[in-house]
Amino acid sequence: MIPAHVDPLGRADRPLTIVVDGAEVSGVHGQTLATVLLAADRSHWRTAPNGGPRGVFCGIGVCFDCVATVNGVPDIRLCRRPARDGDTIATQTRVTGAVETIDE
Ligand code: FES
Repeated sequence: MIPAHVDPLGRADRPLTIVVDGAEVSGVHGQTLATVLLAADRSHWRTAPNGGPRGVFCGIGVCFDCVATVNGVPDIRLCRRPARDGDTIATQTRVTGAVETIDE
């Protein structure tokens, strides 16, 4: 992402903070929750039944690989959900609603 102070379009970022498994992660308004996590070097936030890590696969809301619990609601596709200041994310397993912490 191009830093706002050198962006030739002159945008002015409005910062936000989300909480992922208890850890604060910074982003800017206009990002999806998935892009906030990807920009913070988090490539996965769910574990598949075979134990494999899952994050963004399609990026357009089709595959459901990127789901997590957002503000207490399970199975939210992070690639489709705009980030809002104060959002709380809990990573989860394939079992609906099960919450799991993934160490980075
Ligand atoms: S990455 Fe496929 S639905 Fe989000």
